[in-house]
Amino acid sequence: MKVGILGTATVGRTLAARLGQLGHDVMNGTRDPKATQARSDADMYGNPPFRIWSEDHPDIGLGSFAEAAAHGDIVINATAGGASLGVVRLAGEGNLEGKVLLDVANPLDTSQGMPPPLLMSNTDSLAEQIQRLLPGARVVKSLNTVNAAVMVDPGRVGGGDHSVFLSGNDADAKATVADLLRSFGWTDIIDLGDITTARGPEMLLAVWLRLLGVLRTPMYNFKVVR
Ligand SMILES: NC(=O)c1ccc[n+]([C@@H]2O[C@H](COP(=O)([O-])OP(=O)(O)OC[C@H]3O[C@@H](n4cnc5c(N)ncnc54)[C@H](OP(=O)(O)O)[C@@H]3O)[C@@H](O)[C@H]2O)c1
Repeated sequence: MKVGILGTATVGRTLAARLGQLGHDVMNGTRDPKATQARSDADMYGNPPFRIWSEDHPDIGLGSFAEAAAHGDIVINATAGGASLGVVRLAGEGNLEGKVLLDVANPLDTSQGMPPPLLMSNTDSLAEQIQRLLPGARVVKSLNTVNAAVMVDPGRVGGGDHSVFLSGNDADAKATVADLLRSFGWTDIIDLGDITTARGPEMLLAVWLRLLGVLRTPMYNFKVVR
């Protein structure tokens, strides 16, 4: 499958590497591909510049947000939540029309220190705002409640015995994302319902971020015990 990933940081790279490993044809999207390729410093988390990462992943393409969106049969939003609406505008409504748009972003307001509050919550969510902006895209929210390494390899914590959520208006789009999640190793995939149900997983970040402060590792997840 062709996958376009909007984003070139930890999540964009982690998803790209795993999808490439699984045989998918992947392109990451960025604001300015030349500038992204020219960066020579590590990011604030110590991740190497994209160029160094891409030397180890020669099969993964890099293009603008619009080129990555056009490339994908399925497109993933892995950009900073506060920038995501602008990013999907740049990606282009026409390039996303009818496509599954998997949104893994969290709408964190990073301007106010740690832990960041949400930019919207309770009666709205980033996923809903993206869906309203792009009524022709089939937005599915998932994976935002786990660290990037856990997204693509749930077995990294608790032997993979924990839960991930799906929200979206289109049943076929959710089935496509569920297949992708199963290919990563997920087994407990909980379909919460339509796109408004993304409010819950986005608001789980309030707990997730405080756990990070307590546990001092991002390698954990929520498990729904029936
Ligand atoms: N890190 C995790 O483990 C994790 C886990 C779950 C969910 N998430 C969510 O996944 C998303 C990606 O996280 P991340 O840690 O990989 O990286 P991030 O630093 O949150 O986002 C990086 C991406 O956002 C783009 N971006 C940032 N500001 C922008 C702006 N003003 N205009 C346009 N694009 C902009 C960057 O574009 P350029 O490529 O042009 O620089 C880059 O591709 C976030 O929403 C995050 O909350 C992260």
